[in-house]
Amino acid sequence: MTATTLAVDGGVPVLGQPTAYPWPKLRPAWCEAVNRQLASGQLSIYDRSGVVAAFEDAWSEGHSLPYSLVTNSGTAALHSAFYGIGLGPGDEVLCPTYTFFATAVPLFQLGALPVLVDCRPDGSFDTEAAAALVTERTRALVVTHMWGLPCEMDAVVSFASRHNLDLVEDCSHAHGATYAGQRVGTFGAAGAWSLQTQKLIAAGEGGVLATDRRDVYDRAQLLGHFNKRAMKEMDPDGPLYPYAATGHGLKYRAHPLGIAFALGQVAELTDWISAKQRYARCLTELFERIDGVTALTHSRDGRVSAHYALLFEVDPDVLSGGRDWLVAACNAEGLDDVDVPKATSPLHTLHLFQAPISPVTSYDRRCLRADYPVADRLAARTFKISVPCAPVGFEDEDERYLGAVQEVTDKIVGWLAEPRTRRPDARLAPSGQVVG
Ligand SMILES: Cc1ncc(COP(=O)(O)O)c(C=O)c1O
Repeated sequence: MTATTLAVDGGVPVLGQPTAYPWPKLRPAWCEAVNRQLASGQLSIYDRSGVVAAFEDAWSEGHSLPYSLVTNSGTAALHSAFYGIGLGPGDEVLCPTYTFFATAVPLFQLGALPVLVDCRPDGSFDTEAAAALVTERTRALVVTHMWGLPCEMDAVVSFASRHNLDLVEDCSHAHGATYAGQRVGTFGAAGAWSLQTQKLIAAGEGGVLATDRRDVYDRAQLLGHFNKRAMKEMDPDGPLYPYAATGHGLKYRAHPLGIAFALGQVAELTDWISAKQRYARCLTELFERIDGVTALTHSRDGRVSAHYALLFEVDPDVLSGGRDWLVAACNAEGLDDVDVPKATSPLHTLHLFQAPISPVTSYDRRCLRADYPVADRLAARTFKISVPCAPVGFEDEDERYLGAVQEVTDKIVGWLAEPRTRRPDARLAPSGQVVG
């Protein structure tokens, strides 16, 4: 029997061409909706009407919440949520260090200070770590449902109420995910979702905020939806209504073409989440054949993941070369989708959080007030891969992607089973392949 040569060692890649999960899908009905929007000439929507109102209605209905507000990014939705709950200079907000930085960065615009909290081994918010960081200035906490796996919301909600904190959920990875049957984004003062291209509901660029609080909704409209929308939609008896014409300095309206593209996706979300459960199990089985590799963000205990991606941990004591070797080996075989989530470096490693600055205040307190061993471990040992959701009409495309993952993992599993003296070593990966 001839020995296998991995592409990372100079062999021929098993995939004929680089493969990543094709997303977003281009369903003809969604593209036609974009064309119709274009033909209508409505390329700005000033008030709550047209596709913006249709999207917000669908979002509110899907989340059983009275108010939704479409924005031009997830970052804007988060900023609006933080402004909505009234944060300002002097306030502290408990934030996960294990998240994408947009979860926390809008706080600096308001002069509030994120205080970073370590995560649990599956990347979710750790209320025990947070408890040690509550001060007399703590006003709120924000949690991220990382990679689509809901945080332990019983613990999060009771922690927030025990300390009298407003809760904001960053659901940018978790459209349609549920905790104990309830959709994420509905547990606190506000939920915020990104609708950026890679997200499960994809507008290209866009975001959405949802809340059951009239005051949060009104303030969020004031921040980024001045004049026609704010004048028509804000409570005319509310204290901020006189400012509705000018707003408060930002314009966060979404592009109607993006929202037209995303609107049809909302109705399919529940089916996609179901299909993702099946594909996540398949991917778990394929990768866990490799000793030392463990899936971390699979659904369990009443937490149904939206599987924005599936996160795996690689134990370098079991698989020598560790995560970096495995990622390099998969990429070299053509599986580009296997990826180290570098943009999601823990926030405590980023300069802004080490030396916080704000355009509206100066800080005399720190964002970093603890050690972050769990987040550091995840950053050092994990990789992610996209999880298909088999939208109707795209099942073959998704099966082909799964087949590609199977071919690559088969080859690596086979190679690892062959007798050899040399062991996998991240340093042997071609330059540029080792990420992390
Ligand atoms: C967890 C998280 N929060 C917030 C954002 C920001 O969303 P946007 O890029 O739409 O501003 C992202 C985007 O990647 C994200 O992953």
